Amino acid sequence: MFLATKRVVQCNALCVRQLTRRYLSAEAAGNEAPRRGKIVFSGIQPTGVPHLGNYLGALSNWVKLQNEASAEDQLIFSIVGWHAITLPQKAKELSASRWDMLATLLAIGIDPKRSIVFHQDDNRCHTELAWIFNCITPVGKLRRMTTWKARLADSRNANSASEIDESMLNAGLLTYPVLQAADILAYRATHVPVGEDQVQHLELSRELAHLFNRTFVPGKKRFFPPPIADITPSKRVLSLRDPTSKMSKSSPDIQSRILLTDSPSQITSKLRSAVTDSTIGITYDPINRPGIANLLTILGACLGKTPSELAEEYANKSNAEFKSLVTDAVQDLFRGPRTEFERLRNERAYLEEVAKDGAERARVHSEETLRQVRQFVGLY
Ligand code: TYM
Repeated sequence: MFLATKRVVQCNALCVRQLTRRYLSAEAAGNEAPRRGKIVFSGIQPTGVPHLGNYLGALSNWVKLQNEASAEDQLIFSIVGWHAITLPQKAKELSASRWDMLATLLAIGIDPKRSIVFHQDDNRCHTELAWIFNCITPVGKLRRMTTWKARLADSRNANSASEIDESMLNAGLLTYPVLQAADILAYRATHVPVGEDQVQHLELSRELAHLFNRTFVPGKKRFFPPPIADITPSKRVLSLRDPTSKMSKSSPDIQSRILLTDSPSQITSKLRSAVTDSTIGITYDPINRPGIANLLTILGACLGKTPSELAEEYANKSNAEFKSLVTDAVQDLFRGPRTEFERLRNERAYLEEVAKDGAERARVHSEETLRQVRQFVGLY
């Protein structure tokens, strides 16, 4: 069975090569590339097990896009180790997370025969293109990024200094969005499924695509297409402990997030202690009742309904009854992936084979992009 998988993967690599050549020969002839299908690209950091926010905001959409893709669409999903090291990581834990993240992606339904799944750090084209983009990105633009400002605010709290001081922060944190643009544009991706927190980074990717085309491409042709953010309705799942901030891997309160690997009893306990309010009955009011609105968003995503529909349906339920419905739905949602993850994380040889094939196929795409980029820039 494994050999069969390998053969299909090799066959896919061949198809990628053929498609890439077709695009390139059209371009060499001075035509716009005959882009037929979508090129979908997205990434996730290997910094621990994904949580419900990652899943509902992004990963479930990766699987949906894959399963609904036409034969000509290409799907590329990356585990972005270089982004992870912008914050301090313990080497052994990072390495384990890298492989666990691959097992997770396969466990939720990413099919390595259909999609390219790989470790970002196995393909140097990303850092090469990031450097070229660094050389055209105004620093002022990066300083205005919300994520950079949040890091500054964190560092100010940590140092309890009255002045915001960026001199202690590493340059990787500042240029992180440039690497993200390079991730996407190395494949000339057209669609990027992400949660809402990534929209500003996507905007930068679009700007860099335009800027590069205007600056370097003869005739200002659209060599890099401006990528489109593909956002799910549950684009921002909130913390269970503080429903004014997003559910996040970095929150010190483990009760604030549900992990894909949580047991049914952990899911029950986290949802039981989710912060709501004392109003009687269920209504969808994200401003005044953010905790209940968040649970409605989660249940809606699990059942394929809108939060408002569910609020009407469960208008007379108590908060406790409603939380118990959400608990059942989330337990059902994660049951299959959790079991599959436990099985796959022990299949290291298989994971390594998938990563190797994924990286090879990723390189076929991106090396062609980089070859042309070097020509446009004059580095040949
Ligand atoms: P990361 O690893 O923080 O998150 C992975 C994906 O999960 C989404 N997400 C959420 N969605 C809804 N509610 C939440 N509470 C929530 N928390 C996280 C994120 O929006 C993301 O889609 N910079 C990226 C990784 C990256 C990338 C890329 C993404 C690097 N290169 C190129 C797309 C394209 C990040 O840190 O995601």
